[in-house]
Amino acid sequence: MGMSVRFPRVAVIGGAGYVGSALVPALLAAGYEVTVADLFLFGEQVFDGLKARSSLRTVKVDIRDEAALTAALRGVEAVIHLACISNDPSFELNPRLGKSVNYDAFFTILRAVRSNGVKRFIYASSSSVYGVKDQPEVTEETPCEPLTDYSRYKLFCEQVLRSEGVGEGEWVIVRPATVCGYAPRLRLDLTVNILAIHALVNKRIRVFGGAQLRPNLNMKDMVAAYRLLLDVPREAVHGKTFNVGYQNRTVAEIAELVRSRIGDPGIAIAMEPTDDLRSYHINSDWIRRALGFVPRWTIEDAIDSLCAAYREGKIPEPLTHPRYYNIKTMQALKLEEQLVASSRS
Ligand SMILES: NC(=O)c1ccc[n+]([C@@H]2O[C@H](COP(=O)([O-])OP(=O)(O)OC[C@H]3O[C@@H](n4cnc5c(N)ncnc54)[C@H](O)[C@@H]3O)[C@@H](O)[C@H]2O)c1
Repeated sequence: MGMSVRFPRVAVIGGAGYVGSALVPALLAAGYEVTVADLFLFGEQVFDGLKARSSLRTVKVDIRDEAALTAALRGVEAVIHLACISNDPSFELNPRLGKSVNYDAFFTILRAVRSNGVKRFIYASSSSVYGVKDQPEVTEETPCEPLTDYSRYKLFCEQVLRSEGVGEGEWVIVRPATVCGYAPRLRLDLTVNILAIHALVNKRIRVFGGAQLRPNLNMKDMVAAYRLLLDVPREAVHGKTFNVGYQNRTVAEIAELVRSRIGDPGIAIAMEPTDDLRSYHINSDWIRRALGFVPRWTIEDAIDSLCAAYREGKIPEPLTHPRYYNIKTMQALKLEEQLVASSRS
């Protein structure tokens, strides 16, 4: 095959979500054989354009179903774990469901990973584990003080991974900033994406507060970071934790960027008061020093990608379709809180 990558067979758990929908095609294009293990909560059409590729295998599986997950990971050398009830409101909609997927299932996943002899396990945590910090540089050494259950369980999973490991295999933890930019399974409930779509559709952006800092990462750099973490030598990543972010900007600055980038001075920015002035920011120097990872794509590039997709008709019903908004999808789905024991065993 002429493959020069370290682990040619990769599984992406939760690979049919926002990040996965950009990452999986990139991995396929780089020559990986990819298994996507996901419940496809946001639709099964994500990879329709890729179906012809024999190197993509999709398995509809609930990560809480150990037998099914273990089977799905058979023969896989590396696993990237992205599956999640992945924001605060969706978690809080049903905290028991949130805990069962975001925490309890983590033990299931580690067992499935170990029993398959997976060589590298990459866990998508979140930069929200730090909570709000006054200090200017929030590095991996900064104590974590998560403010919500979503973030708390991210941190608990990190701790489980550090203490249990994955047998002989290697593991690494990633704490990404908020991702921005177009992807086939698009989320419009993330800061840059929300502001951009409102500017495009309504010609009006509402900014609550505005002075709050947000750490951002272009989807293309998120994808590049996972590809790098898959392919660097063991000693470069094993047992490590990396922030991955690029530009820290205030919400008001992002709104201005959106207006100037779309190039329509008629876009109104309405500043509205809020009680929630929490600021988040991170420092991502360590992954640059340790692995040479340098982000290359800006917030402006992300805005451009959303504009282009919108104008090409790739974002139908942007303000109303539940698939773009995790909370709306979760409200419509009503997932079971506890998975009944696997029917197949
Ligand atoms: N998007 C961001 O800005 C961002 C920032 C930091 C961290 N992260 C983390 O990166 C990961 C991916 O984020 P995303 O934005 O792609 O999220 P997403 O919500 O778009 O995707 C999550 C995927 O997990 C799947 N899933 C949920 N519950 C499942 C279950 N019980 N069994 C199987 N699959 C299940 C969903 O179907 C979905 O495809 C998440 O862990 C998230 O916490 C994301």
